[in-house]
Amino acid sequence: MSKKPVRVAVTGAAGQIGYALLFRIASGEMLGKDQPVILQLLEIPDEKAQKALKGVMMELDDCAFPLLAGMEAHGDANTAFKDTDYALLVGARPRGPGMERADLLAANAQIFTAQGKALNAVASRNVRVLVVGNPANTNAYIAMKSAPDLPRKNFTAMLRLDHNRALSQIAAKTGKPVSSIKKLAVWGNHSPTMYADYRFATIDGASVKDMINDDAWNRDVFLPTVGKRGAAIIEARGLSSAASAANAAIDHMRDWALGTNGEWVTMGVPSNGEYGIPKDIMFGYPVTCEGGEYKLVEGLAIDEFSQQCINKTLAELQGEQDGVKHLL
Ligand code: NAD
Ligand code: LMR
Repeated sequence: MSKKPVRVAVTGAAGQIGYALLFRIASGEMLGKDQPVILQLLEIPDEKAQKALKGVMMELDDCAFPLLAGMEAHGDANTAFKDTDYALLVGARPRGPGMERADLLAANAQIFTAQGKALNAVASRNVRVLVVGNPANTNAYIAMKSAPDLPRKNFTAMLRLDHNRALSQIAAKTGKPVSSIKKLAVWGNHSPTMYADYRFATIDGASVKDMINDDAWNRDVFLPTVGKRGAAIIEARGLSSAASAANAAIDHMRDWALGTNGEWVTMGVPSNGEYGIPKDIMFGYPVTCEGGEYKLVEGLAIDEFSQQCINKTLAELQGEQDGVKHLL
């Protein structure tokens, strides 16, 4: 094994997404089958959470993964993020009974301010950060703002689950395999306001929009199905999506690190003003990845319906940002 191990920090490591994620990272599905990894796992210092984390680590040991070059348990972000090359911020405060959205934003703002500062202080200067914990876009924005010495572009939010959900709905509608669908875009917030946009998508070179040719289905079935899928899973499972969320996190990081061969994927990234989105808003955009960097797909035409959808998801994100401004 010739490659030097890279450090991968994962927060919320004893949670449900953590349990679906860590084994896949350790088996090489995220960074490649030739890339050894050292897992730096963070949980809240609480005794029960730390004990559960030790249990997950026992299971990781028992897999005897050839690529798992090391593993550490932490209760403090300032040690968990030391020299880390990748950080997957999954742990977040869930919404409790009677908790208003503003309370949830404030509780998470504290967590992501502290974690952003810790990344700023101790992580690799090239650390690539993916925020999964909700509200993912705003948490990623907070972490980025709390880490002024790190490149802004290295902070991202997870929109890939929305992207994958949209691919799967389009495949079912058209009767074509998921792998044949190219050039799908998802704009905005990871929330029911996200705008999954198949106007540019193709299957075997043919336009998906023309194949479906049904604006009412787009508006009344497709967008609500994708947007409310998280709630539908909570309703069915009694728990929020975990395996599909972990899968999306693997997809996001793998594509960022290893490239997309020119294919479009969706990432939540800080805007530089593209498509009229104010600078720094953590917005879902279509991107391609190459050489460890993502590049926005620019110059797409935005029609009136799409602009309305983009405005709506942008307004929601601006509202979330306003709600945490005083905490930054
Ligand atoms: P979970 O409750 O099973 O696990 C979360 C874990 O995070 C817990 O073990 C908890 O102790 C830990 N944690 C809480 N605060 C922490 C902190 N400050 N530092 C380290 N660890 C901390 O939840 P889950 O199902 O794994 O989901 C995690 C988050 O991901 C939730 O916010 C959920 O809403 C979100 N999520 C996002 C997407 C997405 O597409 N972006 C999809 C699904 C779920
Ligand atoms: C999801 O999209 O499945 C998660 O963000 C969970 C949720 O609250 O919707």
